[in-house]
Amino acid sequence: MRRILLCLAIVSTLATVALAEDKPAKPEGVDKICIEAEAVHPLVKSGIARAFLDAAPKLPRITDRKLYLDEDTRTYYSPQHQKEIEEQQGITLVEKDVSENFFYNTKFGTPIAYVRALELYAPHSEDYLAGKRILDFGYGNIGQLRMLAACGVDAVGVDVDPLFRELYSQPEDQGEVPSDSGKPGNVKVIDGRFPEIGDEVGDGYDLITSKNTLKNGFFHPEREVPKERLVDLGVSLEEFAKTIHKALKPGGVFLIYNICPAPSKPDEPYKHWADGRSPFSKEMLESTGFRVVSYNANDDKETRMMAKALGWAEPDRGMDLENDLFGTYTIAIKK
Ligand SMILES: C[S@@+](CC[C@H](N)C(=O)[O-])C[C@H]1O[C@@H](n2cnc3c(N)ncnc32)[C@H](O)[C@@H]1O
Repeated sequence: MRRILLCLAIVSTLATVALAEDKPAKPEGVDKICIEAEAVHPLVKSGIARAFLDAAPKLPRITDRKLYLDEDTRTYYSPQHQKEIEEQQGITLVEKDVSENFFYNTKFGTPIAYVRALELYAPHSEDYLAGKRILDFGYGNIGQLRMLAACGVDAVGVDVDPLFRELYSQPEDQGEVPSDSGKPGNVKVIDGRFPEIGDEVGDGYDLITSKNTLKNGFFHPEREVPKERLVDLGVSLEEFAKTIHKALKPGGVFLIYNICPAPSKPDEPYKHWADGRSPFSKEMLESTGFRVVSYNANDDKETRMMAKALGWAEPDRGMDLENDLFGTYTIAIKK
């Protein structure tokens, strides 16, 4: 009921704006994420996924955020670093507004798409989130971490892109998050290449997940791809698997979920991100000490249903879901 009222409130506010300006207002930021959560809700079965979606309205509003851009290097700096960089480098950075939309979607899209990973995780766990510890490798966006924290999760994200260090640098972005579960959650984002920065990430995780980061095409491309477009773990895949294994609790879950476009045809430019298979072989995961319960499992139907609910087939996104959207996942449990 609360969710329905909230959505009605958003729709009514947008209608008022539309009347005032005489053109349809498009929902943005948290409003848009709430509408997406509502649209996906009928598709999910687990308590974990439902709790995650119900947390969308708890995302804090983002106002008056600025970043400062070095136009030559395309590097962004937070207000705290602006003066220091300008003085050190004798340059003037360009002030840029950070919209709520960018704060919660960045370059990678809605945090709501994480719901598929959580729905896949649910059968391998007690069906609740409160009190769990979850690591998102290559998080790319704080939205899903904050939503998890609002469900009582100790949510940790690690990402090597320095943009996120600057974007999520205000004191209120991280730390304790109130939760209805009785246990407060927590958000922590760690800047750097994992596992090189291993100690800060720590261990005792119930779930380590990675969405759209651990794709075979980022490690073993079938055609030549510039090095900077690949994922550099700084260690071998074997070492990485061992680090993940060590960071999980016994019985903890390592879940790779990838959404991909159709593979390139021989006469098309190569899309290495279309190969969403696990970069780790099943044997490697098993010899590391995992029980592999799903390996490169097909999630096309469910991913497409989610994408349809999220409006990815609508004219502004224009995706051909049946022919150009694929989902795949691998689930390995620490023995
Ligand atoms: C395609 S994006 C996916 C972002 C997000 N998980 C999503 O699904 O929307 C891949 C992310 O992985 C990060 N990444 C790549 N290699 C990494 C590493 N070794 N350690 C931490 N993050 C890494 C990138 O900076 C990028 O943000």
